[in-house]
Amino acid sequence: MDTFDSKDFRAALGQFITGVTVVTTLDPAGQPVGLTANSFNAVSLTPPMVLWSLDKKSSSLQSFMEGDRFAINILSDAQRDVAMRFATRGVDRFAGIDILEGRTGLPLIEHCAAHFECRTVHRYEGGDHIIFVGEVLTCKRYVNEPLGFHAGQFVQLERVAA
Ligand SMILES: Cc1cc2nc3c(=O)[nH]c(=O)nc-3n(C[C@H](O)[C@H](O)[C@H](O)COP(=O)(O)O)c2cc1C
Repeated sequence: MDTFDSKDFRAALGQFITGVTVVTTLDPAGQPVGLTANSFNAVSLTPPMVLWSLDKKSSSLQSFMEGDRFAINILSDAQRDVAMRFATRGVDRFAGIDILEGRTGLPLIEHCAAHFECRTVHRYEGGDHIIFVGEVLTCKRYVNEPLGFHAGQFVQLERVAA
């Protein structure tokens, strides 16, 4: 078997092109929290379910463990600055960001490509991450082009003829 280190592992994972999300919730005091995450994926159509994973060292771990809801904000191509902001520690991530309140009361970031409001139905241990599985309570798609991520860099969509 080939040996590999964490650098090799990350480099190989980076070949999987993803979108970019900000996952938001409310902390126990009702203040919005959120972080950039590309571990989002679809799970089930019926019932509608999605997943994402959170580093156990995250400053938002308690909010996502204690709260029973989260929102997935699929970032648009025009939101690279939002993606960077929500991946940076020690800044006020929500300052100057247009927020709307979702039907379930969760903070949703405006100008996204799509929104999902979810109820957390499972939390699994996944090594150094916790995997959150949510039942989708509301979802909305917008016309904005989504932001992509590949090998540590943001990428733009280029459609090719089938
Ligand atoms: C494109 C991108 C994708 C990321 N995906 C994840 C992810 O899926 N899960 C995660 O825990 N952190 C992810 N991160 C890192 C977090 O956004 C970053 O560590 C952030 O500072 C965590 O904030 P917190 O500790 O306040 O939760 C990602 C960062 C970037 C730039």
